[in-house]
Amino acid sequence: MFTKEEKEAVYKAIYSRRDIRSFLPNPIPEGIINKILDAAHHAPSVGFMQPWNFILISSQEIKERLAWAANKERRALAVHYEGEKEDKFLSLKVEGLKEAPLTICVTCDPTRGGSHVLGRNSIPETDILSTACAIQNMWLAACSEGLAMGWVSFYKKNDVRDILQIPPHIDPIALLSVGYTDQYPEKPILELANWEKRRELNNLIFENKWGNHF
Ligand SMILES: Cc1cc2nc3c(=O)[nH]c(=O)nc-3n(C[C@H](O)[C@H](O)[C@H](O)COP(=O)(O)O)c2cc1C
Repeated sequence: MFTKEEKEAVYKAIYSRRDIRSFLPNPIPEGIINKILDAAHHAPSVGFMQPWNFILISSQEIKERLAWAANKERRALAVHYEGEKEDKFLSLKVEGLKEAPLTICVTCDPTRGGSHVLGRNSIPETDILSTACAIQNMWLAACSEGLAMGWVSFYKKNDVRDILQIPPHIDPIALLSVGYTDQYPEKPILELANWEKRRELNNLIFENKWGNHF
């Protein structure tokens, strides 16, 4: 059973966690990194396959190469927008890879556990979903430790494989910038930039059948 205070702490982490793209250079104590990695490692996973690995990147040279890959992809994605929307897209800061003292590349190994991982036969992408659960655990743990984290997914997987020497069958699922920040907003950065807003929860809930609102 959770006490009232423990429950409040869980919800506090859920509601206050933010995606951060601006970081201070202050180093992160090693003990805290181990704690957030252990939180990730306690995530649920299909058939308990635990498909994740974590590459800890502190080398400035490698971080700069990752930032190059992300920036290349950001420019490529700008073609999906036109006029004002394109300008707005290009003005959004979508990564803080060079600034953050640590980048964690979270990978997913679809071969872990062999070809018949319990429950993965019907929905193969459950390995990636499991990895996303690990990332969310890490994000909430980081938030409770006062650490900022930013999820960067603007990259071609093969660029990241090349830079980090990841074998071809392993999926680089996320680049996570981790560090301290003096800019921890209360609302999502994309909401503050008038790019997107939180949808009304009631519109997303159906009763018994798809489309049937309460
Ligand atoms: C799968 C995934 C990929 C994301 N990729 C990026 C990214 O490449 N760059 C970025 O700035 N934010 C990225 N984000 C962060 C989202 O923009 C952010 O979660 C969303 O705007 C809501 O804000 P919040 O996390 O502060 O609640 C990603 C988030 C998820 C879950």
